[in-house]
Parts: sequence; structure tokens; C-alpha cells
Amino acid sequence: MKSENEVAQRVETLLGQMSLAEKVAQLAQIGGADWNFGPKAEDIIRERGAGSVLWLNDTKKFNQLQKIAIEESPSGIPVLFALDVIHGYRTIFPIPLAMAASWDPDVPEKSQVVAAKESRAAGIHWTFTPMLDNARDARWGRIAEGAGEDPYLGAAMAAAQVRGLQGEDPTDPERVLACAKHFVGYGASEGGRDYDPVHLSEAQLRNVHLPPFQAAVEAGVATFMSAYMDMNNVPANANRWLLTNVLRDEWGFDGFVVSDAFGVGNLVVQGHARDGRDAALRSLKAGLNMDMASSTYLENLDGLVEDGTLSGEQVDAMVRPILAAKIRMGLFEQPYVDEALLEQVAALPEHRQTARWSAQRSMVLLKNEGGLLPLSTEQQNIAIIGPLANSMEATEGSWMVFGHQPAAVTVLAGIQAKLPGANIAYAPGPDINRDVPHPFGEFNLSERKPIQTAEEAEVAFQTAVATAKDADLVIMVMGEKADMSGEFASRGSLDLPGRQEELLKVVSAMGKPIVLVLLNGRPLSINWAAEQIPAILEAWQPGTEGGHAVADILFGDVNPGGKLPACFPRSGTHAPLYYARTLTHLPEDNPRYRSRYWDGPTTPLYPFGFGLSYTTFAFSNLQVSAPQVKVGDSVTVSVDVTNSGQVAGDEVVQLYIHQKWGSDSRPMRELKGFERVTLQPGQTKTMTFNLGPDELRYWSTNVGQWIQDAAVFDIWVGADSLATLHADLEVVE
Ligand code: GLC
Repeated sequence: MKSENEVAQRVETLLGQMSLAEKVAQLAQIGGADWNFGPKAEDIIRERGAGSVLWLNDTKKFNQLQKIAIEESPSGIPVLFALDVIHGYRTIFPIPLAMAASWDPDVPEKSQVVAAKESRAAGIHWTFTPMLDNARDARWGRIAEGAGEDPYLGAAMAAAQVRGLQGEDPTDPERVLACAKHFVGYGASEGGRDYDPVHLSEAQLRNVHLPPFQAAVEAGVATFMSAYMDMNNVPANANRWLLTNVLRDEWGFDGFVVSDAFGVGNLVVQGHARDGRDAALRSLKAGLNMDMASSTYLENLDGLVEDGTLSGEQVDAMVRPILAAKIRMGLFEQPYVDEALLEQVAALPEHRQTARWSAQRSMVLLKNEGGLLPLSTEQQNIAIIGPLANSMEATEGSWMVFGHQPAAVTVLAGIQAKLPGANIAYAPGPDINRDVPHPFGEFNLSERKPIQTAEEAEVAFQTAVATAKDADLVIMVMGEKADMSGEFASRGSLDLPGRQEELLKVVSAMGKPIVLVLLNGRPLSINWAAEQIPAILEAWQPGTEGGHAVADILFGDVNPGGKLPACFPRSGTHAPLYYARTLTHLPEDNPRYRSRYWDGPTTPLYPFGFGLSYTTFAFSNLQVSAPQVKVGDSVTVSVDVTNSGQVAGDEVVQLYIHQKWGSDSRPMRELKGFERVTLQPGQTKTMTFNLGPDELRYWSTNVGQWIQDAAVFDIWVGADSLATLHADLEVVE
């Protein structure tokens, strides 16, 4: 591994040998896809070189382009190949929202280790992962790609993903550069509408949206990606406060920032920049290193330097961290990939085992009335009903890499494998489809099929009903298709799409034992099911081994222990909805005002942090090491958690605080500690958490900086954000 001095010296040597045109080329990330309009990647590389190529997933072509870069481009500098490997390359892991539902940082870390290994074997150097956008509006389709509504959980998951993708040694041939995206605030797009404007106070930014990104910097993330949308009327690409003052000056980030796709050119589209030249100038001065796919830098930066608007040093400053990253990872010494490697590495049995383990730990048991689950493996006559029951695509979820052919074990296949001797009937029922087609529908969905006519749907509906009638047990597999969440996939409603609930009601009325398995990329308003269906398992989009993991849980080989990383609203119209709100003058527990709306309750259907188990747990003996502590000092909070049931299981012990008064009003609850623990029946374990300045300080609107107040705090510890076991802590000057 080269020392930072050696890296810096090599950077300066390279810069000294490069023309302005070659330096500007390093600030360009160019599209490598066939559909990419504009000049071909090979032509640009041959003429000027390129910082990076994206939207290409072709190992042989990677080597061909790299050869051109090294042997034919003026500077001979190798190219970084980048791709969106969000939750797996060939072995697909649960979507990031699901991995966050494990409340176990090992899950995203171990999953991303495999994703990095397979990606690198394919020739990919850099993935646009982890997505760290805090999301409190489930209508936003990209909630699927993040860690949900809470910054403390989000920060833990951010650091874990960076560790998994990058490892400790930048020359490790089985790791990739990670990318903290979308910096910042994308998840707060108004109405949950993808790309819509965002308005956030500095307190909301610093207390909620920035912490996961800072955690990624502290974990050593190599790159950032700036967000598309206007944030307080300034797009991130042109926001110097964000990209330079906060990211570099305050946090000391020394990597580089790439825009989101076409983001620099979009400054004109968004009515922010006058023209391409203005867009390039604003972005570079803000501190944006690399222009993704818009060619705005390539077309304008040379001229801006030649006419004296920008200095050569301003360009050099943007090029340095890109060259440093290439030198640090050994790209000059090892620019090519072994084209036989991927098939030796992809989807190894141990990779699939990791995927099955991740999926098992990510699933959340939402309801289990009368202990219907786990089901007996003696079951002989089962109907599996629903449009997602045998969908590989819905099981793997959004953000598959280009060219990936879904190969997931579906829920149907998983249950068939679990009960080889049983009579298992399957009926999909009516199809579900988006009302507005996915913009890239023709690129990435393998199950593209003609839209059912109403008559065909009715036949499918009746077939499903008849199939259920003949069974002793019915497992309904419902939710959303892969293209109903992720990018370009916001929606106004959170209800089950299509005629799924109608079918659920008809089958439920038969009075048979019925289980609902959800495959979805966002919280859903399953109000009727929550009331009427005895057992509900939230399986998210669980990846390649998803069907096996569902069967492992339904039939008791695995006891579910996941918890919700975002609350489930009762309606899309209630979003944004989240637990960490400040109190109003009429709190919801006021018997006279029970709800914020007169047309129904506004409490979530399922709260943040909620999840059941096949066993039960009891919390007791909550202790604070001192009832009073000075500002700046710490206390230890301890609690006993006991498995009070009959089977081993996991509990996620969660610690919440509420500062009862201060310079600013503070949220009624904030997560400030969690740990997932496995307990045998009857076993008790004492869990301890630290509460100190890091947990108790916040950015104050009133004071305009980070502060820690002297005040009294509520402390709650329990199994979700409604925890009742309480203690007080007084912090004094
Ligand atoms: C997309 C997404 C971003 C992705 C990038 C490259 O529009 O917003 O998350 O990494 O373009 O594909």
C-alpha cells in the first residue's frame, strides 16, 4: 500500500505531464451503454482519456476500453469503471431498507463484501452505493434503497456498507470504491415525488439528513454523489456550502464528488444555470469533481480556463483526488481484469448462504395471532396465492445491474423445497402493474408481459379463489413489483396495488388458516390485513435466496428478529410520518384530541422499531449509572432483557431519549442506542449503552451551532419506539 506522500507525489508528477484537455477529461464520467447518446466512450477516451465510464457491464469491453486509455490516450491514465451495484452483483441481497430492518450492521457489511468481490471480478472498480438518504415519506420510491427514517440507525448502516465495500486496504483486488449518495436531502422531496424540490432547515439537515453521510466519511468512504434536486433552491451540484464548506472544510473529506446522472447539465434544465458554460463554472466552483454523463465539463472547462474565468489550479484541485484514488487502488499497476474470474466467483455457494442469512435477519414478523406461525412441516395441502409468489423479479427487487437475469428462489420455490412431499397449489391471481409505465421498463424487467384484459384478470381471480378453496392452508404473497419502488417509482397511495386486497378478503372469508407474506420496497398501508389476517411476515425484496429465507421463517427453522426501519403509515396521505417529532401543544395522547385528523387515527399502523418474534421478551431493571451528570460527561444505561418464551430468539434492544426542554424544542423520542441480541429460553442478559455528549448534543436553530443543554431527559428502553420502561437523567452545568 502506498503512503499518502507517495500518492501525492505521483499525483503532482502526473499533473505536471498533463495538458488542460487531459485534466478536464479526468473530470468526466462518460456513458458506456449502447443507448448512450453522444460520442462513443472509445472515441472520447482515445482522444482525451476519461476519469470514468459508467453504465457498462461487460468485462471484455472493460479491458478493451482500458487498453485504449493506457495505450492510445494522450495521458495513458487508466479509467475507473463504475456501476450501480446497490445490493448485489450476481448474488442479490435484500434491498438496503431490508438490510436496515435487521438492525445488525453485520448484515449490510457482510453482504456488501460479497457484492464487492463479485463486482470487482466483473471488472467494476466503483459502485454508487451506499444510498444514505433519510426517508420519512414512504410515497418516495427510493425509500427502498436507504435505511429508513432514523439518522442513528442510518449512520450505523452507512458505516457498515462502506466497510463491506471498501475494506481496509485500497489495493485489495476484491473491494471497490464506495459512494455516499445522494448528498443531501433527496429523501425529503416534497410529496415523496422523485426529484421534487426540498426545503430543509439547517437543524433538519444537521440533526437528521447529514449524520449518515458524516458516518460514511468517518468510515473512509472514497467518493460522494451530489443529489439532483433543488435543496433550499440550490441544486447540490452548485452548492459550495454543501460540497466544500461542510464536506471538505468541516468533515475533512479528501475523496471526490461525482454528480448524479446529467446533474451538471441539468442545472440549466432546473432553471438554475444560464447555459452549459454557467453550469460548468458553478459546479466546479462549488467543489464538484466529476460530471456524470452530461459532457458539460468536457465542453466548457477548457474555455473557462483559457478565457481566465477559472484558473488552472482550480481544475488541478478537482483532478487531484481522482488521480489519487486511481493511484491508491493500484489501477496503474493492475488496470485489467482477468476475464475468467467472474464465473469462478459469481454466486458461489458461500455467497448464496450469506444472501440467505441476510434475508432471514432482515424479515419482520408484523403479526402472529394465536401463534399460527411457525407452520408445521407436516402440512400437506397448501395453496400459494398472489402475483408475487413466483416472481423472481419481485423477490430480487429494484436496482439490478445491467444485464442481470433474475434468478431468485421465489417464495413458491422456497416452500416447495421445504415441503417436498406436500401438495402445493399455486395461483397468481390478477396481475399488478404500474399505471404509468417505468421509464426504463424495457431495459431491466425480465417479466415484461402483455397487460391482462379485465376478462383475463377476472379468470385469474376466480382461479385463485378456487385454488384456495381446495387447500387446508393458504399463503398469500402480495405487495409491490420490483418497478413499483426504487427510482422513478414514487406513488401517491401506499395501498396494495390492483385487486390484491380484494382477493385477500375473499380468501380470508373462507375461514381457513391464512398467512400474508409481503414482498415490497416501501411501507404499505395494509390496514385491512392488519386487522383481519392472523399472520403477516414483512419479507421486503429479499434477494436471490429470498424464497428459502421466507420458508425458513414460516416453518420455524429461523425465528424472525427484524424490526421496522420506517413506520407504516395508515395512508399515503399521512406521509411524511415519523416517530422523532417534537411535541405539539396538544399531544396525541391527550384524551380529547386523540388524532391529528378527524377522519381517523394518525398513529402509524406499525411504529418505527416494531417487530415480533416466535418467543417473547421482558425488559427489567433499567439503571442509569448516575441520576445526574455534568454537560460533557457520560453515563451508562443498563437494562436486563429476558427471553420469557419457549424458543430461542433475537430481540433488538432499543434506547430512546427525550430532552424535556432546551435551547430548542427536541423530539419526543430519538433513538440513541440499539443492539440485537440472541437469547435462549429463560436466559437474561444485561445490555449497556453509553449516553454522553455525542448522543445528547444537537444542532440548535436558536444558537446556530452544535450544543449540549443542561436539562432533564426521559430515557426509555424496549423493543420499539413505543418502549415504556423509563428512567430520568438530569444534565447540569
Ligand atoms: C441515477 C440515480 C443514481 C445512480 C445514477 C447512475 O439517476 O439517481 O442513484 O447512481 O443515476 O446510474
